[in-house]
Amino acid sequence: MPVTIGALRESAPQETRVSLTPEIAGKLAQAGAKVLAESGLGTRAQFPDATYKNVEWANSPTGLLEQAQVLLTVQPLSVEQITRLKPGTVVIGYMQAYSRKAEVKALKERGITSFAMEFVPRISRAQSMDALSSQAAIAGYKAVLIAADNLSKFLPMLTTAAGTIRPSAVLVIGAGVAGLQAIATARRLGAVVEAYDVRSATKEQVKSLGAKFVDTGVSADGAGGYARELTAEEKAKQQEVLDSRIAAADAVVSTAAVPGRPAPKIISRAAVERMRPGSVIVDIAAEQGGNCELTRAGEIVEHQGVRIIGAVNLPAQLGYNASEMYSRNLFNFLRPAINKSGELEIDWTDEVFAQSCLTHNGEIKHEQTRKSLEA
Ligand code: NAI
Repeated sequence: MPVTIGALRESAPQETRVSLTPEIAGKLAQAGAKVLAESGLGTRAQFPDATYKNVEWANSPTGLLEQAQVLLTVQPLSVEQITRLKPGTVVIGYMQAYSRKAEVKALKERGITSFAMEFVPRISRAQSMDALSSQAAIAGYKAVLIAADNLSKFLPMLTTAAGTIRPSAVLVIGAGVAGLQAIATARRLGAVVEAYDVRSATKEQVKSLGAKFVDTGVSADGAGGYARELTAEEKAKQQEVLDSRIAAADAVVSTAAVPGRPAPKIISRAAVERMRPGSVIVDIAAEQGGNCELTRAGEIVEHQGVRIIGAVNLPAQLGYNASEMYSRNLFNFLRPAINKSGELEIDWTDEVFAQSCLTHNGEIKHEQTRKSLEA
């Protein structure tokens, strides 16, 4: 029997993205799957129902949850939705496993096979499935536009009849996927850009984008290409140099993160107080607690004339492109598990499936999540 793949309208209020675009619905049908969708699923991402071909429309969201063998999602399902799924259903999407403990427990107890897009290994073969990267790039881009929009200055230098306008200085903290896109965007808009990251490998990447690397003399290369947490002494040294660069910036875009941990606090209240009035901080790490001491997720805080924007779910502000990229990531992940007859056949020896599996057969398969839940 061909596999039935379902996609729902996202219910989180700020979520405009959809897990299944018309393009990917067509590709899944071509692969032999049956696609079941909830009417209106793509409306907020600007994909009206009429643009979806080859899909069957579900009578109700509940009916869809009960019928789907594979469910594609953006935000994690609620406990209530999970209890509607048939045991053995496969769910693929963001799981936010470290914070959504009740949902992880429900997935486990219901016998759901869940795959977390956050845990897809960052190996070359899986780059086309890397939703963290596709969505981080969007966040980095949008953060710069928000910064520009909140400044009472131009980003580029202008030579006009009314004299010369100096370019704005943008400092990007954290030069991962989001940070690099922020640098590229700020450069395209003509700002003078500096960037900082604890991983020394980023130095060349920052320079190749035409930005200056802030050298604090501290390196924090950790396992798997990610950063490790710094010691107190290293943090103090990093801080000293960084504070002076923060003070000199018109706009700071902060993106620093350590997987599974709260965001490192890099911009102190004192550092904000050294900034010029009218300066802006866009803190992409707001949802993980923020890189700035004064950040409040989802809010704009004004402190001594400095605006601190606690940016939340920026990819949802570019719902159309973000959905295109995310849905392709899901397709590239799922496609190898659909066999020639259009049936679901997961190869558990494939590290992509094995490592991204959160729950299966009534167990939490992801070790770090299991430990964090037990703690
Ligand atoms: P992330 O979102 O976890 O962190 C963002 C950035 O913050 C990182 O560059 C990290 O080094 C930096 N950071 C952490 N603590 C900091 C601190 N105290 N001060 C300043 N910066 C700090 O990282 P992201 O963007 O998800 O990717 C991290 C790395 O993973 C990439 O740069 C790359 O090396 C690797 N990667 C590999 C891929 C592949 O091979 N398929 C795809 C994407 C990423």
